[in-house]
Amino acid sequence: MKPAFYITTPIYYVNDVPHIGHAYTTIACDALARFHRLKGQKVFFLTGTDEHGEKVQKTATQQGVSPRDLADRVVTRFQGLSPALSITNDDFIRTTEPRHYASVQELFRRSQKNGDIYLGEYEGWYCTPCEAYWTDLQIGAGNCPDCGRPVEKRKEPSFFFRLSKYQRPLLEYYERNPRFIRPDSRRNEVVAFVEGGLHDLSVSRTSLSWGIPVPEHPGHVIYVWYDALTNYVTGVGFPGGGERFDTFWPADIHMVGKDILRFHAVYWPAFLMSAGVAPPLGVFAHGWWTVEGQKMSKSLGNVVDPYDMVDRYGADAFRYFLLREVPFGLDGDFSRRALVHRINSDLANDFGNLLNRTLGMLSKYFGGTVPVPSVAGEEDLSLIARSREVLSLVDGAMEEVEFHRALSAIWDLVKAANRYVDASAPWSLAKDPAKRGRLGTVLYNILEASRICVLLSSPFIPAAAQRMWEALGCEGQVAGAVLSEEGGWGRLTAGAALPKTAVAFPRIEE
Ligand code: MSP
Repeated sequence: MKPAFYITTPIYYVNDVPHIGHAYTTIACDALARFHRLKGQKVFFLTGTDEHGEKVQKTATQQGVSPRDLADRVVTRFQGLSPALSITNDDFIRTTEPRHYASVQELFRRSQKNGDIYLGEYEGWYCTPCEAYWTDLQIGAGNCPDCGRPVEKRKEPSFFFRLSKYQRPLLEYYERNPRFIRPDSRRNEVVAFVEGGLHDLSVSRTSLSWGIPVPEHPGHVIYVWYDALTNYVTGVGFPGGGERFDTFWPADIHMVGKDILRFHAVYWPAFLMSAGVAPPLGVFAHGWWTVEGQKMSKSLGNVVDPYDMVDRYGADAFRYFLLREVPFGLDGDFSRRALVHRINSDLANDFGNLLNRTLGMLSKYFGGTVPVPSVAGEEDLSLIARSREVLSLVDGAMEEVEFHRALSAIWDLVKAANRYVDASAPWSLAKDPAKRGRLGTVLYNILEASRICVLLSSPFIPAAAQRMWEALGCEGQVAGAVLSEEGGWGRLTAGAALPKTAVAFPRIEE
């Protein structure tokens, strides 16, 4: 196992407030960051905001404020997502910070020095919503090939990055690192795109002032995607180097939506190769959410506000739903009915009931004190074997970034524990004093299975997991536990007195 793990979200444009799409990427990264911490790795988790470029400048002009004022106002909505959604990012980067200016200019300078950046003239098309350049050939019918919106004709002096030179090196990098782009279907798309040939990329603008100046050429500002992508090295201390950079770079996973994969899997590694910095180890592209069957848009008024979701259902429920409902990597549809159904069936019924009835019986039959287990029978051994198996299934699923599969494995254990309760019928055992030993063993085993479920589900539903962790008498923060120790069977101490706390996941009535 690598000792360190570095994961990033895209940095979000400040021309708009956060919606479910932003929350989704950030929550996915948080679950992975938390899981890798449980594995005992040193984790660095970065998120932030993309504050330069034409898109932000345009919105600011429309609102009659300066781009900086717009950014200062909107950034608080993105920063506020962390406490609201229980996000454990280690840093929050804004591209308007001095540390980022230094980093972008240094990366640019290094490519200039080795001849990969040259001055020319840009003539072609620009799509402002995507902040992307296109050739005559690419725009074909007249609109942006990515988003379908109108593009504008541009002619201006511009610095170019010799992207064409990196076609071979990129293809070789993909070949040598088959897990660089995931999922596989996306990898094939990118390989086909690069095999199709790469044009040199315009990386500066003279028609815009809201950006980072090109070193020694203050009339030019650096292309917003060049600026934005560089945040991933700024966040770990580039260009100063130092311990953080050495520990965490290259990043393990840049998590992105499928729409921005090309920037991360083609441009970004090429910029880095050119500057003599190692490319990232992985880029994972996830799918998009529609809302109640429709594309999410302001004009339809169906934009899902993550703060509203937290107020209504709680952060754990929202997190659980997003990562459980749809296989990660595919598109999904968000509906309140589906969310309420998931919460009630998986959290309130399956998990909530397991905990409630176990702790209820423990209090009733043993005064809340953990009993001593005795020799294990076949059904006990099979529950124990099941919990070991789930541990490795979850580990494998998280390695593949398959959250839905990890959660489904955890819930198989929840269900197995519920079946074990039903089959062992502690309420009948309790009627016969001769069966007190067996009753103790059964309760111990359910408590242990519950504890392991709580531990494994903690990256997904952190606040509830902490409550349940405490209700099971476990000490400290579940987030500080180490899987290889706490994941083993039999960690619960017989004789321990459990606190009297209510732990249920309430049902949602709608
Ligand atoms: N600023 C760039 C990223 C620069 S990263 C160096 C950007 N910002 S964004 O705010 O427009 O989008 C951020 C992320 O939100 C993207 O990964 C995008 O895929 C994601 N989503 C936007 N709408 C979405 C959905 N409806 N569903 C899921 N994710 C979506 O792009």
